[in-house]
Amino acid sequence: MTKTLTRKKPANTATKPTKKVAAKKVVAAAKQNAKQKLYASLVVQLLSLLKGEHDFIANAANFSALLFNALPNVNWAGFYFLQGDELVLGPFQGNPACVRIPLGTGVCGVAAQQCETIIVPNVHEFPGHIACDVASNSEIVVPLFDGERLLGVLDLDSPTIGRFDDQDAEGLNELVTVFVAHEEGLDRT
Ligand code: SME
Repeated sequence: MTKTLTRKKPANTATKPTKKVAAKKVVAAAKQNAKQKLYASLVVQLLSLLKGEHDFIANAANFSALLFNALPNVNWAGFYFLQGDELVLGPFQGNPACVRIPLGTGVCGVAAQQCETIIVPNVHEFPGHIACDVASNSEIVVPLFDGERLLGVLDLDSPTIGRFDDQDAEGLNELVTVFVAHEEGLDRT
């Protein structure tokens, strides 16, 4: 008589995927923690760059250089400042960019008009996106305010789809607040 040996199905088939999910959660939490630490260190570095210096353009230039060099996967970082009803290119790091953006146009113009931070996971899906650098695939734009007055926007581009998230929005808003608070009271009209 031949005995047929059948392998018993493991009792807990969910073990593997559960471990995977748990590992993914640990990695995600570590990434989140690292990003938080990076932005906290950027606040310290920005304060040190601004210390004792009140030239607005020089400070904006150093701020953009700090972001461009410290943040991973960023191919453009810089400012557009409000002049009348358009944004005009300010200090930046990256490829040469378009100089004037009317309010309500492109990601920068919409963020400025709506006075809110805009995260664009895929710029090719944003109606009216202005392509300054063909390498850019995602973007975040953060408006700058002096009290109620809109000063302009901080713009960051990345070649990576979905590069920017809420943590970036929070971190960049904090940095922009530190920057503007330092410049407060200066006459830029
Ligand atoms: N992409 C922006 C234009 C500025 S560049 O990215 C530097 C926009 O759509 O407003």
